[in-house]
Amino acid sequence: MGVTDKLPADDQDYRSSHLERGSRYDANLAESPFDAYMSGWERKLLPQVIRQHFPGGVQRYLDFACGTGRITEQVVPFAKQSVAVDISPSMIEEARKKCPQTTFHLADLTTQNPDLGGSFDLVSSFRFFGNAQDELREGALRAITQRMAPGGHLLINSHRNPRALYALFDRLTGGNTGSMDLHLPKLRALLDRHGLSIVSMRPIGAWMYRTSLMLTTKVDDARAVRNEARFSGEMFASIAPDLILVARKR
Ligand SMILES: C[S@@+](CC[C@H](N)C(=O)[O-])C[C@H]1O[C@@H](n2cnc3c(N)ncnc32)[C@H](O)[C@@H]1O
Repeated sequence: MGVTDKLPADDQDYRSSHLERGSRYDANLAESPFDAYMSGWERKLLPQVIRQHFPGGVQRYLDFACGTGRITEQVVPFAKQSVAVDISPSMIEEARKKCPQTTFHLADLTTQNPDLGGSFDLVSSFRFFGNAQDELREGALRAITQRMAPGGHLLINSHRNPRALYALFDRLTGGNTGSMDLHLPKLRALLDRHGLSIVSMRPIGAWMYRTSLMLTTKVDDARAVRNEARFSGEMFASIAPDLILVARKR
């Protein structure tokens, strides 16, 4: 589970993790049971989250580290203008097919400064912060916040939480959840350093306390639907394996 976007063992810079993965990325996500579960629940919840914070729609939207456009295509219907950036040519090639009305830039915003046409009311970045190394997390947030309008919103997920119930249980029983380090207090402090305050959190999978549950539960299983509703409160965010989080620029 969650194996589809880890750092390659011999490569400690997440920037190069997906340079050639574009053609297989969506299929890999679909084949990995818990990745598919998280992705499915993100797809169910995103419209609600966007409507909650942007009842009148989004003027200008940026998807940072857009990959194959998995999230871009879900937000685009709510946005008047959309721009997406990724460092990987093969990922962007796939994204272009899904989002013909979006402007794409092949760039690393932490080291390059392409003209993105102005500031953004909403910036998303999914399956990025949990994977990236600290230096890249900081650089990405510097680049993102520079391009956010005052009062703009950041929409991210955090899917590699070492304090998720299943990860704690796994370690207690001799497992190894390895390189996961982005727990909620660390994420909150990271956002805070960049002038971002959390305004909403929607946990996903907080009730899954064992790896076996994560490997067998399908998005629309009746038990999953019941438990996702029961464990949807923000108090479960710190033990959830995935989290949709919205932060506002102060
Ligand atoms: C796991 S994929 C996530 C893609 C997409 N956001 C999603 O949720 O499906 C992570 C993406 O981050 C991109 N990436 C890594 N470092 C980057 C950087 N410095 N600037 C832009 N994209 C970057 C990778 O190329 C890859 O496409």
